[in-house]
Amino acid sequence: MASNPQAANEQEAYFARMAPMNLLPAWKVMSTYAPLEPTTPCLPAVWHYREIRPHLLDSTRVIGAKEAERRALLLHNPGLGDSAYGITQTISGDYQIMLPGEIAPAHRHTQTAFRFFIEGENAFTVIDGEKVYMYPGDLIIQPPGLFHHHGHEGEPGAPPAFWFDALDVGMCGMFESTFFHSYSEDEFPVKRSPGANRRQFGANVVPVGHQGSERDRRMFSYPYETTRAALDSLRETEPCDPYYGWKVRYINPQTGDHAMTTMAAHLHSCPSAGPPRPIARPTAWSSSWSKAKAGRSWDRPCSNGSRMTSSSCRAGSGIATRQTPRRCCSATPIARHRKSSGYGSRSAATIRRDTIGNRGR
Ligand SMILES: [Fe+2]
Repeated sequence: MASNPQAANEQEAYFARMAPMNLLPAWKVMSTYAPLEPTTPCLPAVWHYREIRPHLLDSTRVIGAKEAERRALLLHNPGLGDSAYGITQTISGDYQIMLPGEIAPAHRHTQTAFRFFIEGENAFTVIDGEKVYMYPGDLIIQPPGLFHHHGHEGEPGAPPAFWFDALDVGMCGMFESTFFHSYSEDEFPVKRSPGANRRQFGANVVPVGHQGSERDRRMFSYPYETTRAALDSLRETEPCDPYYGWKVRYINPQTGDHAMTTMAAHLHSCPSAGPPRPIARPTAWSSSWSKAKAGRSWDRPCSNGSRMTSSSCRAGSGIATRQTPRRCCSATPIARHRKSSGYGSRSAATIRRDTIGNRGR
């Protein structure tokens, strides 16, 4: 800004002439147009599954799965306005519930989605005609553009099914690329046997002549036992990373690259003695739980007796809290945060770092 009054007046007059032409002098907004460091309206936040679960049960008395399309509670970052729906500006998330006998109608959209299944039996999702049964700890990939619906085959009175969804809603919105189509029927026809894509593409082989690509994402499900075994082996054979503990990323087995093109998903195991060093990272949330090394019960303690995962996020208002299993924590894009736990595992997702120029783990 000009220092002497005459120059300042001339600049103001110049700005006034530009405004009707829909022009904005760059030097007037340079500090916000190109800030020295990333800025975000997002605030660190945590959502505890144990606190949300009763409200999910309440929702089943308010609306049916078909009427709701998806009976889910969205996680809304308190730093975002009412017109935004995300955990961060790029990733949205929700906890969802299904009752026995229910169907959540088939639809498709340009957003990529994935879900970490939390609890329940006989729940499934059908993606592009393949039924995928979901078990606690499983990761299920939902590629963009494919019709999908959910269901629960349990007998009447059986326990509900719960899972956590994440979608790149904000990112698609920023690119103005959001499309949504409902299928003509509630259920998309099943064309392949359950788990066919995982059997075909998850065994270190591909059909002869097959040319995989980043856009070819047909594995759909990543069972917890398989991923956990890989993580356990890593922990037994490799030293602890000072920043991440032990960490594996979910991949597209056809390319070795990330399982999705816009988001990354990981499973962590953190050291029980002392937290990893704080680290700054791009847009991230993490959903954590502690789970016994074997078995499907979410309520059993970890092998060191701990049921807890602790986490701290620091950015502005900051959060430093000891957290229970299956909570979701939002770390803002530049928040320095660190996490530690007993011998449990934690799933986490980020917008893929290489999409914003910081390719790494
Ligand atoms: Fe969907």
